[in-house]
Amino acid sequence: MTRKPRPRPPGPAIDTHAMIRVDHAGEYGAVRIYEGQLAVLGGRASADTIRHMAAQERHHLETFDRMVNARRVRPTALEPVWRVAGFALGAATALMGEKAAFACTAAVEEAIDDHYAGQIAALEGSDPALAETVAQFRAEEAQHRQTALDHGAEQAPAYPLLRAAIKAGCRVAIRLSEKI
Ligand SMILES: [Fe+2]
Ligand SMILES: [Fe+2]
Repeated sequence: MTRKPRPRPPGPAIDTHAMIRVDHAGEYGAVRIYEGQLAVLGGRASADTIRHMAAQERHHLETFDRMVNARRVRPTALEPVWRVAGFALGAATALMGEKAAFACTAAVEEAIDDHYAGQIAALEGSDPALAETVAQFRAEEAQHRQTALDHGAEQAPAYPLLRAAIKAGCRVAIRLSEKI
């Protein structure tokens, strides 16, 4: 008896739980970065701009929080790490000045843009709800990046170094939060 092989979906199987786990962790990290920035820059001219972005990050976080619960995703075990590391990154760059704070935002959003673009491509056709959410948030992250550039991110001291270090850190954080 011969059997036709089942058609396989192209590419590796998609682990949507890992995607939601890392996105949830990342949006939490983003909230903490902005909280760290505002702890230092709360009284400065750019504070309202930062507060606006922070409010959008809280909305991103709440959305993934609901998804974690609805789909019974195990959240990252690294939350205490991102709680401290996110705040520290935001506060430390803010202490270097407003432009360095915006350089941090620009670098983080660049890493997130790559990350979300990869997810959207991987999700094509398989999970429209998740793909739609990620695409919507990706557009807002791109606005954050533009806002940061408009506020002189690239004029921060040692910008290329800062940008490279922060992007590398984000990529490590992403890989860890997918799994752990
Ligand atoms: Fe976000
Ligand atoms: Fe953002």
